[in-house]
Amino acid sequence: MRINDEGGKEIPLFKVFMPESVIGPLRETLFSGYIGEGPRVEEFERRLAPWFGNGNVLALNNATAGIQLALRLAGVKPGDEVISTPMTCVATNQPILAMGAKVVWADIDPWTGNIDPESVAKKISPKTKAVIAVHWGGYPCDLDELNSLAKRHGIKIIEDASHAFGAEYHLKPVGAHSDFVVASFQAVKEMTTVDGGALICKSGPDHERGRLLRWYGMDRKNRPADLRCEEDIKEYGYKFHMNDVAAAIGIEQLKYVSDNIGKHCANAERYNEAFGDLGTVRILRYKNDRISSCWLYTLLVKDRSGFIEDMNASGIAASKVHTRNDRYSIFKDSLVGLPGVDEFEAEHVCIPVGWWLTEDDIRRVIDTVIRYDHSMRQMA
Ligand SMILES: Cc1ncc(COP(=O)(O)O)c(C=O)c1O
Repeated sequence: MRINDEGGKEIPLFKVFMPESVIGPLRETLFSGYIGEGPRVEEFERRLAPWFGNGNVLALNNATAGIQLALRLAGVKPGDEVISTPMTCVATNQPILAMGAKVVWADIDPWTGNIDPESVAKKISPKTKAVIAVHWGGYPCDLDELNSLAKRHGIKIIEDASHAFGAEYHLKPVGAHSDFVVASFQAVKEMTTVDGGALICKSGPDHERGRLLRWYGMDRKNRPADLRCEEDIKEYGYKFHMNDVAAAIGIEQLKYVSDNIGKHCANAERYNEAFGDLGTVRILRYKNDRISSCWLYTLLVKDRSGFIEDMNASGIAASKVHTRNDRYSIFKDSLVGLPGVDEFEAEHVCIPVGWWLTEDDIRRVIDTVIRYDHSMRQMA
């Protein structure tokens, strides 16, 4: 992106949060003689449990792996169908192909970016095994509607909560509602372990089976002291576990994450107040029965490229962040008409909202957006 000609500094869309205090536990872990999956992973999982309102937490190497593991636990087999949204990172949908299943696209609500339960209902067939719901920007999907559909049809809900660490739906954390919930601790998320993720399972048996499948189908807990792998393997697994180095970072990060999410959401509130009545720039429509993690702040702007140019000229990053997945060749067999996606995809753009914004930054973002809106209205 360009920097303001008048010498303004760049305001990035994302920034890695890494506190100095991580160095102590990290050094201790690195030189402890044990850096694989061990006591720190267990501690991290215990500390994550309240964040998800659920103790069945499996720390993993990333969220993409978490989605594949969830699909496996949901019983998705080659030839099955999985209903999903194209309005997300490709990491949500590639695991469906990895399982040999077919992606069936559902439409989204163009005012939130989230999957529309009514569209999901129309896409359910005898081959449907699961639905993946992505909480765009951290704003939770209609989980009650999705879960009642799933119950009625005997299918599983997998929440891709990669944007939504710390979000709440109907007074309970995201993590406490569906069969499977996947979190991402990738570099620029509000909660990072450099790379990392978690799978949260509603049922104890899924959690126990997931624990085995994340490491070759073997039980690390019952390994003999001489590390022989003589126990039988009853089903194949993966190498999806988190290591103690990542977990040590995660444990430290958890001390700051609540504060950081609070800053994201306070900034989002400032924007909602400032942009609520503009003409050519529209804010998303959120219900107040749920709380977003505010990882992204998304606007709808007709002339998106002109808007991005204007923002960049003022030293402010702006981006679509994710592009619709249904147009990638790998998904060509799933192509269908999706008017809600067309509408959202034509106009959505994300602006900086994170903990790193200073008061000056927030004012500059607000002034630039308002100036853009006024100039567009004058031209109309
Ligand atoms: C919606 C969504 N799902 C999944 C992922 C993949 O996460 P990870 O990098 O932890 O595999 C991302 C990453 O940004 C994401 O935004």
